[in-house]
Amino acid sequence: MIFDTHAHYDDEAFDEDREELIESLRKANISKVVNIGANLSGSRASVALADKYDFFYAAVGVHPDDAAEVNDEGIAVLRELAQNKKVRAIGEIGLDYYWNKENSAIQKEAFARQIELAKELSLPIVIHSRDAAKDTLDIMKECDAKKAGGVMHCFSYSPEIAKEVTDMGFYIGVGGVITFKNGRKLRESVEAVPLERIVLETDCPYLAPDPFRGKRNCSLYLKYVIKAIADIKNVDIEKVMEVTYNNALKMYKIES
Ligand code: NI
Repeated sequence: MIFDTHAHYDDEAFDEDREELIESLRKANISKVVNIGANLSGSRASVALADKYDFFYAAVGVHPDDAAEVNDEGIAVLRELAQNKKVRAIGEIGLDYYWNKENSAIQKEAFARQIELAKELSLPIVIHSRDAAKDTLDIMKECDAKKAGGVMHCFSYSPEIAKEVTDMGFYIGVGGVITFKNGRKLRESVEAVPLERIVLETDCPYLAPDPFRGKRNCSLYLKYVIKAIADIKNVDIEKVMEVTYNNALKMYKIES
């Protein structure tokens, strides 16, 4: 059984064949998927997918790109959406200085407000953090994000930061990047943390693993990620599937 902890099946890249593709996942041992909201409309779409498919769950939140949506009204929308039982996290939320550093103050405030919301609702958080390790960790500490728990998705930092994040009780999300030639840092981080702190993710339609790099990603390709983790950890693929599956259940508080 495979758990895709981070997918965007609401993305327009799936408009042509969404239903057939999602139906095909079940047969391919993809037992659970969490569809992640990247903004308010994506959060609504994630909840709609979770309502439609029994093996889908949702996270609602606003990505740093859309941080301006996180005002009183935006928070009220997220709080309302989170009343749905299939909403299992607040995300994706965080900081992205790779694409945009000029609005870092707005990003930080949006991140902090959504951590507070997660704590209020007793939900874990799905963190997006790119080129912003220090500020991300600072805010996690200031807001006592440990109380919420969750995952640093598409983990891209050093083994030292992986250790700090997992010591706080968080998981690291590992996807297609682990198969890339330039994915060495991620492979080192995966080596450095126990398998019990790793969850699988696609971030589809983005970040398809080799040999599909650059193509549209989907949960069917997680087998390449699983193989790469198994090789690094020197365990068999069944072990990687089992442990990461249980990690994800625990993280999102889903009963098997
Ligand atoms: Ni994402």
